[in-house]
Amino acid sequence: MSARSVIVESMDKVNEENVMLPEKISLLSPLWTILVGTLVIAILFEIWLRNTREYKLTANMPTPPRVPVLGQAHLVFNLSNAEIMSTALQFIDTPGSILRAYLGPILIVGLWNPVDIEIVLSSSSHLEKSKEYKYFKPWFGDGLLISKGHHWQHHRRMIAPTFHQSILKSFIPTFVQHSKSVVHRMSLEAGKEFDAHKYMSQVTVEILLSTVMGVKKLPEPSKCLEYANAVLDMCDVIHKRQVKVFYRLDSIFRLSKFHEKANKMLDIILNMTRKVVEERQKNFNADSRAILENEAEVAKRKEETIKAEGLRDDLDDIDENDVGAKKRLALLDAMMEMSKNPEIEWTEKDIIDEVNTIMFEGHDTTSAASSFVLCILGIYQDMQEKVLAEQKTIFGDDFMRDCTFSDTMEMKYLERVIMETLRLYPPVPVIARRAEYDIKLPSGPYSIPKGTTIVILPYAIHRDAKSFPNPNKFDPDNFLPERTAKRHYYSFIPFSAGPRSCVGRKFAMLKLKVLLSTILRNFVVKCNLKEEEFRMQGDIILKMENGFNIMLEPRPEAKKAL
Ligand code: HEM
Repeated sequence: MSARSVIVESMDKVNEENVMLPEKISLLSPLWTILVGTLVIAILFEIWLRNTREYKLTANMPTPPRVPVLGQAHLVFNLSNAEIMSTALQFIDTPGSILRAYLGPILIVGLWNPVDIEIVLSSSSHLEKSKEYKYFKPWFGDGLLISKGHHWQHHRRMIAPTFHQSILKSFIPTFVQHSKSVVHRMSLEAGKEFDAHKYMSQVTVEILLSTVMGVKKLPEPSKCLEYANAVLDMCDVIHKRQVKVFYRLDSIFRLSKFHEKANKMLDIILNMTRKVVEERQKNFNADSRAILENEAEVAKRKEETIKAEGLRDDLDDIDENDVGAKKRLALLDAMMEMSKNPEIEWTEKDIIDEVNTIMFEGHDTTSAASSFVLCILGIYQDMQEKVLAEQKTIFGDDFMRDCTFSDTMEMKYLERVIMETLRLYPPVPVIARRAEYDIKLPSGPYSIPKGTTIVILPYAIHRDAKSFPNPNKFDPDNFLPERTAKRHYYSFIPFSAGPRSCVGRKFAMLKLKVLLSTILRNFVVKCNLKEEEFRMQGDIILKMENGFNIMLEPRPEAKKAL
């Protein structure tokens, strides 16, 4: 027998044995080992999870059907952002306005009962953001939105006064100038259907740069838009990491296409903000931009402070604690001064982190809010007429003149339209905190264990029939003072509430009024959609999936000005 035939024969034997002994071999094969191993780990995990204190303490909470190990994570695996939002909204009617969910091992408790929300948001203990905010870290560093402990407290105390009313008043001419520019740009779209969000994004970035950042020479318009688009893409990636449990693992995320996308977007964003800081550093002269107030002005404003409206927080306290003459600076200038003052702990990195945080928080939120208002008024022409009638009363014969601070105080109906828009379409639809200790909820027999991610849902709170009869109907009169007075404080929280509420709340309302007043005095706005056709997408900031499509028609009064 030749060597070749010996080899062939022995190979045949081996093959024969393989064929004849499938069970023996397959029982020991790596695949089986992995399968059996995974099953054993899964069973052990399930046993461990069900015996944890957290699981037992929350077992009486309404819980959507869960599968072992994954919990409810599978519900969103293959869904788009809009589908995730509509899946989440299916649970809004859950009795008790509370829901428990597990993303793998991570316990999440969703709350939307105002009495429970108050316990969490008004507390000076549950101030830390939940771990889902960590995906913002490469972008915001230790900026106000995600920082904690002493760092957050110190920064909040120093930053809140830079949004003081006297500073905001000084921004009005800049709000007007940019509002007129965007009106001019949008006039080129007159008669066509277009997405208002693009314009609102760009103008909001420009306004932030020219006001709180004090930038004299703005980047080219295309750069502002590029920044705004990079923010949208970044939010999309961060949202994916927050809700799709596998992307939480750095090893899996790094292999995905989103990692590269996020790096690219982050480059665009950080480049823009770095240039902003460099420009300001070159031209910084604190005294030339400081707002000086004398004691009489401070006292007068204190009297004017309206206490009945809305929620009270440290932004109101800024007005109340004022004594004596004040030198006030806008945000970036104030931070530059602080960084030069050896008595104040404030580094270059602190400046960059806060610029990145405020550029994001201050632009994407207000551009969504203004885009929603335009669509809503485009649908409800009768309400738009009412807004216009109010504008006519305020501006009289000089209808196209520039808006002033006192004009904005008179825009009561427009303010109600904005508030009602923020109720039904809150730009920040979800807020999350970490429970610092076990929390017993006042609304029912429920306790949230220490360390849990508490998800607060303004979108759901705002649509609760107990607070807003006929909750899905757009009705600006929901914000008549007598109706507001009858509601729970925490039933309307578009700017969050309590010690960690939005620091730019007053800036946002003022800017929205000036911008919308300017647009609405120039154009009749139309929208071909019905409100029921809005498809929400909640990737960090609430948007419409198919864009904010409107049409504009120049008003006869404005044609000359355009
Ligand atoms: C309609 C516009 C706005 C809405 C609806 C809004 C809403 C909110 C909400 C809900 C939070 C809490 C977020 C959380 O806990 O996750 C927040 C925080 C914050 N907002 Fe706004 N915001 C708006 C405009 C602005 C503007 C214009 C600025 C600045 C110019 C700003 C700066 C901030 C900052 C710095 C925080 C973090 C505060 C802290 O943690 O101490 N926001 N905002």
